[in-house]
Amino acid sequence: MREVAVIGCGMTKFGELWDKSLRDLFVEAAIKAIDDAGVDHIDSMYVGCMSSGLFVGQEHLGALLADYLGVSGIPSARIESACASGGMALRQGFIEVASGMSDIVLVGGVEKMTDCHDVTYALATAADQEYEAYFGVTFPGLYALIARAHMERYGTTREQLAHVAVKNHRNGALNPNAQFRREITVEDVINATKVADPLTLLDCSPVSDGAACVILCPLELAKKYQDIPIKILASGAATDTIALHQREDITTLKAVKLSAERAFKQAGLKPEDIDVAEVHDCFTIAEICIIEDIGFVEKGKGGEYTAKGYTALDGKIPINPSGGLKSKGHPVGATGVAQAVEIVEQLRGNAGKRQVKNARIGLTQNMGGSGASSVVHIFSVV
Ligand code: COA
Repeated sequence: MREVAVIGCGMTKFGELWDKSLRDLFVEAAIKAIDDAGVDHIDSMYVGCMSSGLFVGQEHLGALLADYLGVSGIPSARIESACASGGMALRQGFIEVASGMSDIVLVGGVEKMTDCHDVTYALATAADQEYEAYFGVTFPGLYALIARAHMERYGTTREQLAHVAVKNHRNGALNPNAQFRREITVEDVINATKVADPLTLLDCSPVSDGAACVILCPLELAKKYQDIPIKILASGAATDTIALHQREDITTLKAVKLSAERAFKQAGLKPEDIDVAEVHDCFTIAEICIIEDIGFVEKGKGGEYTAKGYTALDGKIPINPSGGLKSKGHPVGATGVAQAVEIVEQLRGNAGKRQVKNARIGLTQNMGGSGASSVVHIFSVV
């Protein structure tokens, strides 16, 4: 396998972007990444997107987006893995460069959700149709079940869940690309409209539009294009049952555990070696389970550590300096690539007011559904 580097990155602002179509968003992010890398061609392209068919009635994104980017003719395909589509597209691009098949690969993620009249239905197609969605359960509902079980088993409190949202909004307020750039308090979260008990509006990631792109190439060519190339040390992926009732223990996200273990093994690293991480906080409880299942904190203690500031920007392991899905926004197919964009900016030392000090090794974790897919990447400065 060849070593792989990220030599360019770019993203759109995330939010309710009425004046931009799906193709506009993708092209905007792709041009930023191409300019950043300084490449004059692309050999191949992967696009992470969960459900453009249901959200905007458009399938066949590989060819469409290559055409609108002005690179029609190259191999280009869409990758779907629910909300982990972006992370899975990154993994495909990584494999393609590592294998020697292509040198310059563009990996993008895009979703245009706010034009859709029934987003909750579209999102629920990533749950088990026969055993979950058919009975009316939604994603906030599924994560509420996980939250209740976590509270029951480990004593996680309502306040501790709220601290995840408070921390991520504090970080997002420093991110010009974030959808919600306002700070909130624990009381705001607890008193917000209830969505699925115990989760309120401010425990949930929002419905968003946006796109993000990175350019990959073999590490040996990277210096030709980029002064600060960022190496991808590892790519780990895993799956679990889609339906929650089929899991042994719904407070443990097995796919997250396995994907992280695989990535750490490949990189020859441990959780304590990571300086900064972007993880899939689609709901506050998700971030708590993920930091436990990756191994950043002891199982059951995620809420306690978050409330103590362990995962804050100046904490022991800063989690979601971008604001995460909660504050930055969650255009589902774009999220996994946007996480990589943030980690690349952090490792380059370009993250402005939300810069994590001395960040040299970063991790991204992107999840599909209620944890049925997970992709972990580990990055380092060269
Ligand atoms: N966080 C913070 N503010 C939010 C928000 C969120 N998640 N969602 C909406 N808002 C704000 C809106 O900006 C709006 O503010 P305004 O009145 O000042 O303009 C207000 O809350 C109401 O927004 P609205 O669009 O009517 O909300 P909604 O009730 O239609 O949707 C949720 C709220 C939480 C149900 C929706 O965001 C949701 O379904 N989120 C989860 C998405 C999801 O499941 N993703 C996949 C994860 S696996």
